[in-house]
Amino acid sequence: MRNRKMTFSIQSAIVTLILYSAIIQSGSYTSSSIRLPHSQSRSPPVTVSVTEYGATGDGVHYDTEPIQSAIDACSSAGGGRVVFPPGNYLTATVFLKSRVVLEVHKNATVLGGTRLEDYPVEQSRWYVVLAEDAEDVGITGGGEINGQGLEFVVRFDERKNVMVSWNQTGACSGDECRPRLVGFIRSKNVRVWDVHLTEPAYWCLHLVQCDNTYIHDISIYGDFNTPNNDGIDIDDSNNTLITRCNINTGDDAICPKTYDGPLYNLTATDSWIRTKSSAIKLGSASWFEFKGLLFNNITIVESHRGLGLQIRDGGNVSDITFSNINISTRYYDPSWWGRAEPIYVTTCPRDNTSKTSSISNLLFVNITATSENGIFLSGSKSGGLSNLKFLNVNLNYGRWTSYEDGLVDYRPGCQGLVNRSSAGIMMEHIDGLEVENVNMRWSGDRVKKWNNPLDFRPSSVDNISMINFHSSSF
Ligand SMILES: *[C@@H]1O[C@H](CO)[C@@H](O)[C@H](O)[C@H]1NC(C)=O
Ligand SMILES: *[C@@H]1O[C@H](CO)[C@@H](O)[C@H](O)[C@H]1NC(C)=O
Ligand SMILES: *[C@@H]1O[C@H](CO)[C@@H](O)[C@H](O)[C@H]1NC(C)=O
Ligand SMILES: *[C@@H]1O[C@H](CO)[C@@H](O)[C@H](O)[C@H]1NC(C)=O
Ligand SMILES: *[C@@H]1O[C@H](CO)[C@@H](O)[C@H](O)[C@H]1NC(C)=O
Ligand SMILES: *[C@@H]1O[C@H](CO)[C@@H](O)[C@H](O)[C@H]1NC(C)=O
Ligand SMILES: *[C@@H]1O[C@H](CO)[C@@H](O)[C@H](O)[C@H]1NC(C)=O
Ligand SMILES: *[C@@H]1O[C@H](CO)[C@@H](O)[C@H](O)[C@H]1NC(C)=O
Ligand SMILES: *[C@@H]1O[C@H](CO)[C@@H](O)[C@H](O)[C@H]1NC(C)=O
Ligand SMILES: *[C@@H]1O[C@H](CO)[C@@H](O)[C@H](O)[C@H]1NC(C)=O
Repeated sequence: MRNRKMTFSIQSAIVTLILYSAIIQSGSYTSSSIRLPHSQSRSPPVTVSVTEYGATGDGVHYDTEPIQSAIDACSSAGGGRVVFPPGNYLTATVFLKSRVVLEVHKNATVLGGTRLEDYPVEQSRWYVVLAEDAEDVGITGGGEINGQGLEFVVRFDERKNVMVSWNQTGACSGDECRPRLVGFIRSKNVRVWDVHLTEPAYWCLHLVQCDNTYIHDISIYGDFNTPNNDGIDIDDSNNTLITRCNINTGDDAICPKTYDGPLYNLTATDSWIRTKSSAIKLGSASWFEFKGLLFNNITIVESHRGLGLQIRDGGNVSDITFSNINISTRYYDPSWWGRAEPIYVTTCPRDNTSKTSSISNLLFVNITATSENGIFLSGSKSGGLSNLKFLNVNLNYGRWTSYEDGLVDYRPGCQGLVNRSSAGIMMEHIDGLEVENVNMRWSGDRVKKWNNPLDFRPSSVDNISMINFHSSSF
């Protein structure tokens, strides 16, 4: 029974991947689920330059109005490209309209303003570039969009920077009140490619209730000590493909969430990630379902956590595959969530008002990890983990930083940080776990403290099968 379900989940993941690969390789977007912007446009595309509308590109004067006029004119003319020639374009929020692609050329930088009055009144619309209810929109051109995030640092700190707070309105609290960089809200047929997104003050690239999004060949760079400068956040969106991206940032790199609706069909492949938080994280906002996600051929280096599912709020998660992934995780300051776990799965309710979540049909295949801490698999009394499979997994455990170990991290909420020695795989509240071809290797004296390969916590862990499992110390 379990095997049949798992086979189904592997096959659907592979079908999804093949479908997307075919789309990428053939370049034929029109007949499949990921389409190029403009495929529906009625008139021939127009190209306008922001300089024709008076943009100075001097990095000193605000070019907001010229940029917005160029976008509006392009959209009204039926759509096309809005070009930014080399230069620095300082701007308040600009609104991307249907059928328009921003083409930020090489040596051109769009610089986000650093004043509260540069952003709309509603905190939910604080972005440098924002598309709302748009179709067939994109950003490309080889240039850069820069949020000037370092201008939002109140005090630089190697452990974690202290950031400004724009919480005058009370719409957000503490240091979470900062503008995001690029947002697509309720938009369809979105494509972001060949562009550098740098120094966001808060989250970098944000999709909210979008359908049919293609993000490829982009780089994201955020300051390593800045909290909340996530790479790509995907909320309540369907049919998202992320491929060939390079993400190097302080906070979560690829982060699907569900606030007001489900999230289906997300594929992320062929990418490289470095983060002081989680490289891939489902949650922790998780009020609705996550289903049909595939992460394949990804390299994760020097991160605080590798593959994470932090499901807290009653949403159910199923049919998720992680394949062909190399991970290196290490300790950083414990003020950042993460304790060097290569893989981290939890359904512990956020608080005593949270509904029960579940995670099922989870496959980890062809994974190699070099880590300072073990795998964490923790269901909860009412919300279990079921049908988890680990196939062809190589775990290399050692200790190379000077941070203290011996803390188990249940944050956010739950039991918080617990003083307890870790294990190769820590398990609690699980029904259905298959482990096949898994090798654990421990090296160095410092790992002896915790080189307990398997830790079955005193709670129900049922239906376990282990085939070809090895653990060795040297
Ligand atoms: C970009 O700037 C570099 C350095 O100034 C210059 O060598 C290069 O030709 C420029 N490229 C373009 C496309 O303007
Ligand atoms: C704004 O956040 C700062 C820093 O967290 C806090 O000290 C201040 O009380 C907050 N102000 C309001 C109006 O919430
Ligand atoms: C995603 O698909 C589900 C199921 O069809 C649907 O309920 C939801 O509204 C879709 N979300 C978006 C943003 O299209
Ligand atoms: C998810 O992908 C499958 C297979 O490609 C497709 O049949 C299904 O309609 C998609 N779901 C949504 C909500 O778009
Ligand atoms: C894996 O991704 C890398 C880019 O990170 C790419 O160079 C490589 O070709 C991909 N491998 C396969 C088998 O697709
Ligand atoms: C992971 O490492 C192995 C062995 O070093 C290598 O063969 C494989 O291509 C790597 N995969 C990725 C996704 O980096
Ligand atoms: C999650 O699954 C449970 C059990 O099937 C169900 O009662 C609950 O409504 C589901 N939650 C959501 C948000 O769909
Ligand atoms: C739920 O948590 C709140 C805040 O921690 C606490 O005040 C309350 O007593 C708890 N309620 C129950 C039923 O445990
Ligand atoms: C796992 O790796 C093996 C050997 O490299 C390969 O044959 C197999 O296709 C991979 N599995 C997946 C799901 O990528
Ligand atoms: C954990 O508890 C032990 C024994 O009580 C103590 O020696 C150690 O300092 C504690 N570690 C942390 C990180 O709190």
